[in-house]
Parts: sequence; structure tokens; C-alpha cells
Amino acid sequence: TKYIWLDCDPGHDDATTIMLALNCPEITLLGVSTVHGNSSARHTHENAARCLVAFGAPPDVKVYPGAIKPLIRAARHDPEIHGVDGLGGVENLPPISHPLVQDALTHLNKDGKAIHGIACAVRETWKEGSGSRITLISTGPMTNIALFVSIYPELLEGIDEFVFMGGGVGLGNRSSSAEFNILCDPEAAQIALDAPVKKIMIPLNVTHTAIVTRSIQSRLLNPTHPLEHPEDPLPEASTPLRYTLSTLITFFAETYESTFGFTLGPPLHDALTIAYIVHPEMFSCRRFRVDVELSGAHTAGETVVDMWGYRKCDNTWGSTGKNCVVAESLNVEAFFDFFLEC
Ligand code: BDR
Ligand code: CA
Repeated sequence: TKYIWLDCDPGHDDATTIMLALNCPEITLLGVSTVHGNSSARHTHENAARCLVAFGAPPDVKVYPGAIKPLIRAARHDPEIHGVDGLGGVENLPPISHPLVQDALTHLNKDGKAIHGIACAVRETWKEGSGSRITLISTGPMTNIALFVSIYPELLEGIDEFVFMGGGVGLGNRSSSAEFNILCDPEAAQIALDAPVKKIMIPLNVTHTAIVTRSIQSRLLNPTHPLEHPEDPLPEASTPLRYTLSTLITFFAETYESTFGFTLGPPLHDALTIAYIVHPEMFSCRRFRVDVELSGAHTAGETVVDMWGYRKCDNTWGSTGKNCVVAESLNVEAFFDFFLEC
């Protein structure tokens, strides 16, 4: 099994990432931490707990609240894409008052906060070398990750890989050149990129190919009723969970169409992190030096990928090395088969 920790800001595609992490047989989800991002830190914390319960998490999987704002900059959220509470339009999730949701939420002075949750999970799994390394996943701004690598450098040995959705290769979405997760907290992203741990970046260039078309949504609603023509009406949901996931996709599709003009469906950005961990063969990747533009007049938050090797780098994963494996393409059909199977 792959032991994973998920740091996220649910968020529609973050929610599908939680669903995959819980329902993929090759993965053991150790815990979840949340961060400001798509919505406020309070909302992303509550949303993660509601998703854990909705998607069948075992009771020992908790959600730890993390940073409420970026390291330096002011917090920004994305109600245009995810609604004010971060999961706009998603129906039938358990309410915050649900006893299991309350159980899943950890609070200060009880079980600690994000970075302490990650630290405990690494210690208990790695066991100073006699156990297993964990995979750390980030699908939101990297504030918690930057704090974790700064405060617990001795635990980085217990991390096998750091897989994140973020950035683009010459492509942005929340500015002309910056992707939302990096744009929210560029300094944190640079700290994470400089950490001496193997990193895998899943950029917009790849996530924009993972489009949930009507035909995928139809299979999500009812796997036995594939659409014959793209304009055919969608089938009824065959289970309550499929219904909930379909309301999520419908809202996300509408905001992606009105904001970005995506007419075929929304990209399932964050879910690709889980696919990478279980099926790296679905991706083609190359290793580069990646840094974040911190001060550009027009380009703050852009990920600068040194594709032509201008920077002299060593072979380490840290601040002097080719620090990041960058995904360049995805087998889209295989990805959606995996997604629907889970
Ligand atoms: C990223 O930003 C958010 O909208 C999504 O959850 C994803 O993590 C895409 O730029
Ligand atoms: Ca996200």
C-alpha cells in the first residue's frame, strides 16, 4: 500500500481527490490537512470533514486545520469557481452538525494543527527507518507544506515523494501567467520547491486535458448507461453518492464555462495527484529546475520551468538541484477509467 497525507483546500476537484484517496485500494489515507485557498480556512476544514464522511472514511482519518493565510501576502479565495463556501452546488453532503463530521474535525489543543498532524503521521509510519515512507500530496496553496518543511526538516527523510497540483509551463489561470495554487502563496511554493525531497508537479498543461465531458458524467451517474450521442439527456443517478458527485461536476462545469469558456466540461485538476501515485505510467514526465517568480510586475506566482537547462544544477532535489519532475502529458482515457472504477 501507499501511505499518503493529503493537504488540500476543498474545492470541487479537491473533493474528488478525497474520494479517490479513500476508495483506491492501493492507497492508505493517513490524514488530511486543510489550508486557505478556494475558500476560507474555516470552510475548507469543514468541507474536508464533510467529504471524508460522505466518501466513507474510517473514523481514525481526521482533518487538521492549517494556515488561514499565506506566509506574506493577503489571502485570496475563488468564489467565482468554487462558490462562497468552496463547495457551491454540491448536494447531500452531511451537515457540519453531523456527529461523524464533528468527530472528523480536529481542533486546536485537542489533536493539533496541520503541520503537527503531518509530523505525527510521518513519525508513526516511518519509525526512524524501520517502517514505510509516506507520500505527501498538496492540492492547494502550499503554506502548510512550507511550514512543515521549515519546522520539521528532520522528518523529510520519512517522505518518499511530494506530489502537487499547481503551476503551469508557460500557462496560468488566475493571472496571465500564474496558476491559482501558486499565485495564492508564491513564497510558500518556493520554500516547498527548495525542500530536499523528490517532487512531482502536475501543472495546468496536463490537468486541462482531464476534462469531465458529458459522456464521462453519464458513466459517473450510471455506468450501465453510456451516452450514445453527446447531446442525449444524462441518465438518473444509480446511487446517492453518484448523485452527489454529479452535482459537484455540474456546478464546476458551469463555473468553468462562465469564467474560462470551457464548453466541453471542467478539468479535474487535483484528482490527477492520486492517479500519479498509483499509476505513474499514465503520465509522461521530465525532470527540471522549477522556481517561482516572486516579484515580477506582471508574472508574480508564475512557475519558471528551466526546460533548456540554463541554470547550472546538481542532481539533488533541493535548492541547488533539478528539483522537480514535471508531468507533461496524461493518458486521459486510462485516467477516467481509474477515476470511475474508484
Ligand atoms: C487549482 O485551483 C483550484 O481552483 C483547484 O482546486 C485546483 O487545486 C487549479 O488551478
Ligand atoms: Ca485545490
